Amino acid sequence: MTTKSKPMILGISGSLRKDANTDKLMQYISVQFEGKDCVFEWIHPKNFQLTLPGIENDSNDPEYLREKVLSCDGILFVTPEYHGSLSSSLKMLIDNLGYPSTLEGKNVSLFGVAMGPSANNAIRHLKEILSVVNANVLPVEISIGSIHKVFDGQEILIEKELENRINESISELISRCSNQISD
Ligand SMILES: Cc1cc2nc3c(=O)[nH]c(=O)nc-3n(C[C@H](O)[C@H](O)[C@H](O)COP(=O)(O)O)c2cc1C
Repeated sequence: MTTKSKPMILGISGSLRKDANTDKLMQYISVQFEGKDCVFEWIHPKNFQLTLPGIENDSNDPEYLREKVLSCDGILFVTPEYHGSLSSSLKMLIDNLGYPSTLEGKNVSLFGVAMGPSANNAIRHLKEILSVVNANVLPVEISIGSIHKVFDGQEILIEKELENRINESISELISRCSNQISD
């Protein structure tokens, strides 16, 4: 039994690109979380000094990141699709979460964005990694293709059906996390 009342959900962006569509979607998602019965914050890989496994790293960031993941109830990943897979920065971030991973047992929602027709490959590969680390990947996955048309300049062109699916995914994550902390 925990004393926490609201679940803590951590968003993790998978793009290091300036003005990345991944970040634009994460920003949009963070607005959808407003007023919901949880605490949501998101982190950006550019703010962490991470290295590939085996490369020396004097920074405390990997430890800080592991603590952050350990202390949250759920994770929401947004990955870009790069060359038919998740981004290497996101894979490196996951590799910095320890082996065994601090993602073990965490409820996870997956979002992917691509310029092509879908981000299905990125999501599928990410899902395979998460199943190896024993995370609990929730069934609603959101893959958004032609993302450059969705975030076109200052405009956000998210159709109602997609908005509903995004909110369904968010609600499912909050609900799973709430149930877990009240068990
Ligand atoms: C290295 C690299 C590889 C990419 N490979 C693909 C790809 O395989 N399929 C695709 O649809 N888009 C691909 N894209 C386009 C991205 O999906 C697009 O930039 C999208 O906006 C998501 O990335 P972002 O969040 O970094 O902007 C690639 C982009 C980069 C930088």
